[in-house]
Amino acid sequence: MKDPHETKQDPFGHRTNPAHAERTKRIVEFLEDDAPFRRLLDVGCSEGLVTAHLAQLAAHTTGIDTSEVAIGRANGSKWKDEADFVVGDFVEYEPVRKFDLVVVAGMPHLFDDVPKFVDAVGRCMKKRGGRLLVSHVKSTSGGDGYLSRLEAAGMKAVRSGEFRAGGSEHSIHLMRLV
Ligand SMILES: C[S@@+](CC[C@H](N)C(=O)[O-])C[C@H]1O[C@@H](n2cnc3c(N)ncnc32)[C@H](O)[C@@H]1O
Repeated sequence: MKDPHETKQDPFGHRTNPAHAERTKRIVEFLEDDAPFRRLLDVGCSEGLVTAHLAQLAAHTTGIDTSEVAIGRANGSKWKDEADFVVGDFVEYEPVRKFDLVVVAGMPHLFDDVPKFVDAVGRCMKKRGGRLLVSHVKSTSGGDGYLSRLEAAGMKAVRSGEFRAGGSEHSIHLMRLV
């Protein structure tokens, strides 16, 4: 599949779409009670703007994306010092140090092989106290069907919520490995 970042800058409207900014704000608010985190991983970080907002919740933040173009833009941005930005495929990522929060925002449905995704979460997340945050627009991810698939693959929601941003309904779940 062609990388949308090659076609234009900011293909997902992170810099320009107020609904996106509102969604990111709601995710940060949802996590505030559990912050600060020591090490946070933002999966599918794109050009790093969302990662820079998440970085206020953690002592150290990493963003990972398969797109070399997106990571190049993150590393050339004015928020480049807020996080480490790395090129990589999350499902194959083997970090040297594990994370206490793994964030998968706006894209969990892209991981269609849910057991493989959960294996990757297990490799990246601290065993004791590690958490996965998944947030998605309900209409693009089969509603709460995705949550059931995550639970069938060995994850359990510890706190869930819903919010509206830009006219769309979003689900948000903080999960742990069972
Ligand atoms: C919808 S976009 C941005 C999602 C972003 N997290 C947000 O909050 O809006 C999805 C991003 O995930 C990246 N991506 C897709 N599959 C990936 C994978 N397996 N590992 C890491 N990044 C991936 C794409 O290159 C793209 O930049």
